[in-house]
Amino acid sequence: MNLNHHIAGMPAGYLFAEIARRVKEYEANQPETRVIRMGIGDVTRPLSPSVAKAFADAALGMTTAEGFHGYGPDGGYPFLIERIIRHDYQPRGVDLHMDEVFISDGAKTDTGAIQELFSADARIAVTAPVYPVYVDSNAMAGRLGRFENGRWSKLVTLPCSFDNGFVPELPRERVDVLYLCYPNNPTGTVLNRAQLQVIVDWARAHDTLIIYDAAYKAFITDPEIPTTIYEIPGAREVAIECCSFSKTAGFTGVRCAWTVIPREVKGSLPGGGTAALNALWRRRCGSKSNGVSFPVQKAAASVYSDIGWQETARTIAYYQDNAQLLLAALGKTGLQLAGGVHAPYVWLKTPGGMSGWDFFDYLLKTASVVGTPGEGFGTFGQGCFRLTAFSTKDNTQEAAARILDAINKL
Ligand code: MLT
Repeated sequence: MNLNHHIAGMPAGYLFAEIARRVKEYEANQPETRVIRMGIGDVTRPLSPSVAKAFADAALGMTTAEGFHGYGPDGGYPFLIERIIRHDYQPRGVDLHMDEVFISDGAKTDTGAIQELFSADARIAVTAPVYPVYVDSNAMAGRLGRFENGRWSKLVTLPCSFDNGFVPELPRERVDVLYLCYPNNPTGTVLNRAQLQVIVDWARAHDTLIIYDAAYKAFITDPEIPTTIYEIPGAREVAIECCSFSKTAGFTGVRCAWTVIPREVKGSLPGGGTAALNALWRRRCGSKSNGVSFPVQKAAASVYSDIGWQETARTIAYYQDNAQLLLAALGKTGLQLAGGVHAPYVWLKTPGGMSGWDFFDYLLKTASVVGTPGEGFGTFGQGCFRLTAFSTKDNTQEAAARILDAINKL
């Protein structure tokens, strides 16, 4: 049989798999060393007790005739969708229809799969450095052309760097889809309302769809920074938004997320006419998924209870303190820093112009600390490095001291 040569021809392995491989090799050679992981953005705080209780109650309920649930409704249970709309959107002046929210098992799943709605020749743009899923999923579908010198020939990249204050310049060429992630992974930077308005206006003027990944929105503390793109007038016509309980409520292992597709978002069909992406996505999900389990959706809904929200807010504050700790320590190095304020990621320029991978190897060997090399987020991440605030406080303190020490030795 013939294989999908687009997957077979993908460069290297998935970023975090490659990091795990290098760390495993290092640990095998240095069994006595305690490695501190600040690489993958995986949470470390336990689930909130009230959320775990809702999860367990629903699971135990499944052993009774009244509490048993088979296949759930298309798009997710109304009890969860209603809470998401009431807590995440209405307080920001945004109202959504119940059928505009789709529950899924992850923002990675949805940001990876949403490209199934685009035509085979759709032109894709991403800000760069970039969360690899947006690029990989389109490359696997054969939309990005050839991979040469670290770049995809048909991918449009909008560089975001210390030089332009991490504000992307909009493309001059025709683009069908633009992926945005704010608060940004990997740079930890945000766009304010005015900056986002410029992009939404441009998307409307150029008939471009925005895929807005807001997985890290729980870390925003400034009311001037939008937590949803729908705070921006006009966004309902051009934007799909993907959100997640992973980083907000520690669900990386539990799995629950949602995607918003307003009824107004439309695309063109080859024979003329248009179709609503909401209807297309529902059709696609109906054929490919039976959604998320009942106990998981109950657990997710309980995040919005008074106690669940208080516990969740404490956990977010804990990670925010870690980010401050990292920023304070790294501030002593004189290196250029970004992020860490409205996001759990701190982005830095490596010392002495080292490549991100060289700095990764240096830190691993000298400090036994794992970070993420900027190159893992594409060539525009070259010479940069990402640290996460998702560790424990003790580990963050220890890692910050070890990193400072290692940088001083250079
Ligand atoms: C990251 O480290 O970038 C994230 O963990 C990736 C993800 O959420 O899939």
